[in-house]
Amino acid sequence: MKTVIIIPTYNERENIGPLIAALQHQFEKLTHDMHVLVVDDNSPDRTADFVRELQADHSNLHLLMGEKKGLGVAYIRGMLHAMDELHAEVVFEMDADFSHKPEDVPRLMAEIEHGADFVIGSRYVPGGSIPKEWGLYRRLNSRFGNIVARYLAGIYSVRDCTAGFRAIRTSILRRIDFAKLGVQGYAFQVALLHAVTVEKARIVEVPVNFIDRCYGDSKLGLRDIVEFVANAWWIRFESSKTFIKFLAVGATGVAVNLGFFTLLLFLGLNKFVASPISIEISIISNFLFNNYWTFRDRNTKDKTRIKGLKFNTVSLLSLILSYGTFVTLSLFFPDVQPQVHQFIGIIPATLINYFLNSYWTFKHVED
Ligand code: GDD
Ligand code: MN
Repeated sequence: MKTVIIIPTYNERENIGPLIAALQHQFEKLTHDMHVLVVDDNSPDRTADFVRELQADHSNLHLLMGEKKGLGVAYIRGMLHAMDELHAEVVFEMDADFSHKPEDVPRLMAEIEHGADFVIGSRYVPGGSIPKEWGLYRRLNSRFGNIVARYLAGIYSVRDCTAGFRAIRTSILRRIDFAKLGVQGYAFQVALLHAVTVEKARIVEVPVNFIDRCYGDSKLGLRDIVEFVANAWWIRFESSKTFIKFLAVGATGVAVNLGFFTLLLFLGLNKFVASPISIEISIISNFLFNNYWTFRDRNTKDKTRIKGLKFNTVSLLSLILSYGTFVTLSLFFPDVQPQVHQFIGIIPATLINYFLNSYWTFKHVED
């Protein structure tokens, strides 16, 4: 199988030479047609010149230049080149800084041979590890990244979603529209992983020991972290049509609430009586829409009556939450218009409301 190891580089002059030598050594153990593609973004330390010199000795060493726009942009450029120009059947993602051991390449390749589409060199499966010398900040950063990817973006089944050491069949990559991923930086790792799970790729995690780099610095910046979290929210939003339906139902609830409130006032009811009655009517109408539309396809265990009670409980809880937010904000920012506080209060309440109803009231049970 023609295999291209894609290595993005930005100021990796000390690392790239020894890494290429170590990879060539590993290639001797493999029967596949192995290539290396360095994707360099005009590194000021002239990493590319170094690679050009090495190209004289290695016909399987390729270099692709570009402008620095982020790790994701570099990988996308590299993957398209590997597929369209080099006609690769398999590509690897690999860091230039020896954090990923060249000796592990054959182990990842073996899983591809056994039929996997997407092999992850994983730090978070038994046998895998992160560097002992990592400080609390890097540990938390990496853990937090994986929690966000698994629980927010919804990639529950994968332990190491942010790993940068992977072997991927191009048959699966060709099904992905890179432009639609909409990411530039390190968020690419999670965006790509999510895209291949949607395509039902066979994903395998192989334990690896991640080594701290000896030369140079990490390129991960604040911008990458912000994009990472925003991307995870986006994936959650995109993949949950259910959530969008839930929001639409919520909007009809507001109309029902205000409509009944106006009607009851018109009929001469006291506003302190009309208010809770209208609230309860809108809770019931929301429940009916959610039960017979939003969560229609869910296999739930409770009778409609019980679900109705649970839904009501959750609704009252979110009422307390949004009212609590309103009161708190009003106390701290008395000069801001109350409508602003009221609106901000809706946001956490809606999210909690959705999660509790989705995972409790309308919890899906397998047959
Ligand atoms: N061409 C290019 N352009 N290369 C880049 C860029 C860029 O904008 N940013 C980073 N790189 C290259 C680096 O030169 C290195 O070879 C590789 O990408 C990884 O960058 P590091 O800066 O060493 O990343 P890290 O050690 O902080 O992050 C590692 O862990 C992350 C989280 O698990 C990597 O394995 C990431 O891929 C991984 O997501
Ligand atoms: Mn690194």
